[in-house]
Amino acid sequence: MKGMDPGSKLPSKVSVYEVSPRDGLQNESAQVATHAKVRLIEALVDAGVRRLEVGSFVAPKWVPQMADADEVCRMIERRQGVTYACLCPNATGLRRAIAANIDEIAVFVSASETHNLKNVNKTVAQTLKAFEPVIGPAVERGLTVRGYVSTMWGCPYEGDVDPAKGLTLAKHLLDAGCYQVSLGDTIGVGTPIQTQRIVELFAKDIPLEKIALHLHDTRGTALANVLAGLQMGITTFDASVAGLGGCPYAPGAAGNLATEDLVYTLHGMGIETGIDLEKLWQAGQVAEAIVGRDLPGKVHRAGVRSLAK
Ligand code: HMG
Ligand code: MG
Repeated sequence: MKGMDPGSKLPSKVSVYEVSPRDGLQNESAQVATHAKVRLIEALVDAGVRRLEVGSFVAPKWVPQMADADEVCRMIERRQGVTYACLCPNATGLRRAIAANIDEIAVFVSASETHNLKNVNKTVAQTLKAFEPVIGPAVERGLTVRGYVSTMWGCPYEGDVDPAKGLTLAKHLLDAGCYQVSLGDTIGVGTPIQTQRIVELFAKDIPLEKIALHLHDTRGTALANVLAGLQMGITTFDASVAGLGGCPYAPGAAGNLATEDLVYTLHGMGIETGIDLEKLWQAGQVAEAIVGRDLPGKVHRAGVRSLAK
């Protein structure tokens, strides 16, 4: 079947932001060897991934799975045209990012106080304060800075979240120097009309190329939310190969949207990603081998069916 002509409301290209080496591996109970992380990152880049998070410069006591991020950054072969990013919560993280010569850092804050407190041991206001020696100085040093606003669709501790709180945070992060803010459905509770309402709210104040969606697929609604986002004008989606993923401080956050499922769907709709789906599927096999358990991505499990020209 030939890829359908995207309707006038759909973009012709989408940027896929890969998070498996970070959001995926941060949640694994077994420690994955540094060289295995490097193998996964290189397989993803071989598949055409051009933006990816390779680790976190967070406190090792909090997330021991990411303790080797500095070493991962040293070991990966850097390719031209690829943006390598790491999470960074504070000035210590920025020092590590600079020493590791990473291209991009990502700061993160939650739209709900309780998740924020559990995740970074700070109130939302204290978290924004902690970004002051991070975002501006990083931009001055030539790093790009991305922001996350988590728990936008719901909080594991507080339930419903007012999207207006997330909008205030996103505007703050953009004003502080972030080039894009990714809205997190941290625990995968979102549904499409809700997504449409969130994006509509943001579109009133923020150009939509500055907004990305970071969807966990815990309840199988991530792709439906992608479609809602696409129809509203979103062109960046975060995803994790084979559906690896979760947040250690968000119970039930297992399973990011699988990158293969995202790319399969986009290509089938005639939307370019620059990613080779067969090679991406191979990267998913690497992910499964290095974590040593079955991974949930649908295309990962079913295999890639080539679309006839
Ligand atoms: P704290 O304990 O309040 O901070 O943690 P602290 O400043 O008192 O430091 C405690 C210790 O950590 C000290 O060491 C610091 O030096 C060290 P000690 O003196 O005890 O030996 N430390 C660091 N070490 C290395 N790198 C650093 C660093 N900072 C402090 N950057 C802190 C506060 C923010 C550090 C901590 O809470 C933390 O690291 N949290 C990170 C939690 C995390 O990574 N969560 C998962 C990522 S978020 C997510 O998954 C959601 C997302 O995917 C989007 C979505 O799905 O919505 C992004
Ligand atoms: Mg996440």
